[in-house]
Amino acid sequence: MVSEVLNANELYKIDPVFGQLSFDNHEQIVFCNDKDTGLKAIIGIHNTVFGPALGGTRMWQYNNEWEALNDVLRLSRGMSFKSAITGLNLGGGKAVIIGDAKTQKTPELMKRFGEFVHSLGGRYITAEDVGMETIDMDLVREVTPYVTGISESKGGAGNPSPITAYGVFMGMKAAAKYKFGTDVLEDKTVLVQGIGHVGESLVEHLTNEGAKVIISDINEGRLNEVSIKYGAQIYKGNDIYSEPVDIYAPCALGATINDDTINKIQAKVIAGAANNQLANELIHGQMLQDKGIVYAPDFLINAGGIINVYAELENYGKTEIMRKTENIYNTTLEILNNAETNSLTTHQAALNIAQGRIDARKKENSNS
Ligand SMILES: NC(=O)c1ccc[n+]([C@@H]2O[C@H](COP(=O)([O-])OP(=O)(O)OC[C@H]3O[C@@H](n4cnc5c(N)ncnc54)[C@H](O)[C@@H]3O)[C@@H](O)[C@H]2O)c1
Repeated sequence: MVSEVLNANELYKIDPVFGQLSFDNHEQIVFCNDKDTGLKAIIGIHNTVFGPALGGTRMWQYNNEWEALNDVLRLSRGMSFKSAITGLNLGGGKAVIIGDAKTQKTPELMKRFGEFVHSLGGRYITAEDVGMETIDMDLVREVTPYVTGISESKGGAGNPSPITAYGVFMGMKAAAKYKFGTDVLEDKTVLVQGIGHVGESLVEHLTNEGAKVIISDINEGRLNEVSIKYGAQIYKGNDIYSEPVDIYAPCALGATINDDTINKIQAKVIAGAANNQLANELIHGQMLQDKGIVYAPDFLINAGGIINVYAELENYGKTEIMRKTENIYNTTLEILNNAETNSLTTHQAALNIAQGRIDARKKENSNS
């Protein structure tokens, strides 16, 4: 089955869980509810062939439970491929907490969530995603060891976002090299959509390199802050996708490459941090290819964060974290060339390699 974003009107027609289009033979899906703290969460474990399913927790005000379930299924599947393509001995998992992180996140809720994570005995290991901070993972750590992304003062590797941004920057440079013949981004116009933890750090790398950066966000305060700090231009129009830029970096939420946006996109390269950028990976990956737009697969270039948190499990330090993250440049170039040689979309080329590794390990596991 192929992951696809559906709206609630379409979703009700199909079986609620195993029949969802986003269901991809996930091993386990856990629904967590706690009336006292108001916790409503879903943990998705897609695959544990390579090891425990590691992936962040997202807190978001979904319109309905279908959206939350669809999101956790898509995100956890992506984590399996992310770890496999990056060569980490981790499976794929993710969690979503339904609610507004600004108003509904409390220490009690985070700890209760941690207890649910603990009850899985290490099959799922959490970390931060949208709506989460390092301090939230520190709270989870009070009730379970199955958490990463905790503060450096508490023995963790700290906030993974700057490392994610560095990996995205490396992937973007590789895609630029492939498309424009140079990986120097000076004078290239880059649109960064979403200037949160990762987006801001990406803006810093880009402005340091002399790129012309346009920023967009739904948070006005952030826009002003980041614009002043880095001299980035705030997007003022009302149709961001039509903006004539060289590179589009989606760093907010997923599925921004879809039927409505794809024909407007002017960028020649798409490289960003958001997970699941293609609303439908089969259709939209091909459409980008047909338009001559080079798409750096999201799960490949946003792996810096998982490389960073994996260090907490494997006890490697900053030098190795940076080496592995820098290597995203080489892997991206290899995938782009592989896609061309095999007449595949770049997304499919990356998926094939990741799936091949998972299948090979599964065979090894069953023989041992
Ligand atoms: N943090 C990491 O290490 C990491 C790792 C891998 C992937 N990602 C992915 O990268 C993306 C960004 O992560 P983050 O940690 O920076 O999240 P974040 O919550 O810190 O930032 C997201 C930003 O996007 C903005 N935003 C939301 N909807 C928007 C819209 N429609 N248009 C413009 N801006 C919008 C928010 O206001 C916020 O500033 C997410 O999709 C996340 O899953 C993050």
